[in-house]
Amino acid sequence: MSLSLTSLGGHMAAAVEGIDLNQPPDTTTAGDLRRALLDHLVLCIRGQALAPLPYRDAMRVFGTPMKQITPAATHPDCDEILVLSSEDRDTLGDGKKLVVGAHWHTDDSYKAVPCALTMLYGIDVPATGGDTQFTNMYAAYDRLPAAMKDRIAGLSAIHTYDSSRKGTRVAKRTDTDMARMPAVTHPLVRTHPETGRKALYLNPNRMEQVAGLERAESDALLDALIAHAIQPQYQYRHRWQQGDIVVWDNRCTMHKANADYPEGARRRMHRVIVEGTVPV
Ligand code: SIN
Repeated sequence: MSLSLTSLGGHMAAAVEGIDLNQPPDTTTAGDLRRALLDHLVLCIRGQALAPLPYRDAMRVFGTPMKQITPAATHPDCDEILVLSSEDRDTLGDGKKLVVGAHWHTDDSYKAVPCALTMLYGIDVPATGGDTQFTNMYAAYDRLPAAMKDRIAGLSAIHTYDSSRKGTRVAKRTDTDMARMPAVTHPLVRTHPETGRKALYLNPNRMEQVAGLERAESDALLDALIAHAIQPQYQYRHRWQQGDIVVWDNRCTMHKANADYPEGARRRMHRVIVEGTVPV
C-alpha cells in the first residue's frame, strides 16, 4: 500500500489517502500510520467502507480497542463500537436530545487510565455542519508564559464524570455505574509516553478542582488555562466527508462536537477507543 499524506491544519492534522483498511496494512504501512498520528495528532483516513467488525479490527493498527460501557449505545454487532447519533437521547435522564462531546474535552479523563486514542468513523455525515474541532495541547503548553509553566508544574486536577464545572449536560448513568467511577487525579501537564513531549492535560467537562487549591483560586487557574488552550491559533476544525475515519491522540489534544447541522439532518458516527496508560 502506498500512503499519501496531506497536511490539513498546518500546525496539526493530516489526511491519508490511497489506503483501503479492508486489507490489513503491511508492517511498513502500519508503522507509517502510527508515526503520522504522532507527528500530526489528528489523522483523517479518507474514503473507507468498513463493516463494524473489520472497522474494529483495522483500528488494532493503533492499539487495543476497549469494550464500550454504555449498553444502550453499543453497536449490536460489536462490543467495541459506540454509536454516536444525531438521534441520541439521554435515556436514563430526562429523555431529551443529547449531543455527546459538545464541549471541549479529552476522552475518558474521569478514569484512572484514560484511553490513548479515539477513532470516529463517519457513517452518515450531514451536508453542512457537524464539524469536530480539535486543539493542540503541546502547542498550548509550549506557548504558556514561563511563570505559568512554573506555577502548574507538579499540580494535579481532580476529574469526575459529572463535574460541577461541566459546560454541557452529560448522559445520566446508573447508580451502579457511578459507584464504579470514583473521582481521579491527573497532572495538569502530562508527558506523552511515546514522544516525550509535554502537553497541557485539561478536560473542561470533567475537571472539578485543582488538588490543594481553594475553590476560587482553582476555578480562576482552570479558567485561565482553558481560555489559553482553546485559542483559535491552536485549533483545527474537521469538516467531515462520508467515509472519513478520524483518529486523534487524547494525550495531546482536546476536541468538541458541533451540533449545528439542520434539524432533521442525520449524523451518525462509529466510535472506537484504544487503551492508554496512567497520565504522568
Ligand atoms: C466525541 O467527543 O467523542 C465525539 C465528537 C464528535 O461527534 O464530533
